[in-house]
Amino acid sequence: MAIRIVHFSDPHAGGPAEDFMAYLDKRWVGVFNFRFRRRFRHDQSKLQKAVDYILQTRPDVTVCTGDLTSTGQPGEFAQVREILKPLRESGIPLIYTPGNHDCYVRRPKCVEAVNTMFSELNAGRQFQDVPMRIELCGLDFLMVNTSRPSNLLCSWGFLYKKDAQWIADRCAEHPGVPKILVNHYPMIEDHPILRTRHRLFGEKPVRQMLENGTLDLSLCGHVHKPYCRVDATGRGENCAGSVTRNGSMVEITFDNNVFSYKTIHL
Ligand SMILES: [Fe+2]
Ligand SMILES: [Fe+2]
Repeated sequence: MAIRIVHFSDPHAGGPAEDFMAYLDKRWVGVFNFRFRRRFRHDQSKLQKAVDYILQTRPDVTVCTGDLTSTGQPGEFAQVREILKPLRESGIPLIYTPGNHDCYVRRPKCVEAVNTMFSELNAGRQFQDVPMRIELCGLDFLMVNTSRPSNLLCSWGFLYKKDAQWIADRCAEHPGVPKILVNHYPMIEDHPILRTRHRLFGEKPVRQMLENGTLDLSLCGHVHKPYCRVDATGRGENCAGSVTRNGSMVEITFDNNVFSYKTIHL
């Protein structure tokens, strides 16, 4: 039987600084960015339309690959919480992995906000328990976290060696069950030099697993322009792009051992 997965990413809700400390940590960069740039580029009504589509078509699984917010402040999570509420209550399984903007600073109230959002969107699972395998519809979703606070002007992600090993170990289990990696950062980077400020470190072993077929699929966001780099059986990497910037997301169908992709315009 065909399995349908809806994949969206990077809505980037944003707003003003929520406390004076924001001017002393990285949040001022994100707030500035939102105020003068993102606000005009990210249309949150597209996220609403994405939710409407999911509720109408009821896929088997919905995956969100992070950057719900611009600076990880509680008020930004609250905006998204409101829009995603019907989805949470729909009973459609949802997998959410935080992006670098959701883990922007170490400020306790921001850390608490992402932890709470994680738990709400992942059926009570805890962020601290990642990496985690989520078994749904005969597929193994392998969630790792690559998003952590980094320095002021960079959006680096880090795939730890132990997490790469964890992925390899999970891929050795459940033979015949497709393995889908869920994380925020692309494993395949076309422009590692151009995108030095936004790159992921430690991704090489996992990229090899994708190339040699150990890992079937990588679902990611972070890059706001969507792309799909897959082979004839649909195996490779799918980046959903920013749902609010492009007004699109991706519907993936797994049938007869082949993944196929359809862009949903919102
Ligand atoms: Fe993003
Ligand atoms: Fe990102």
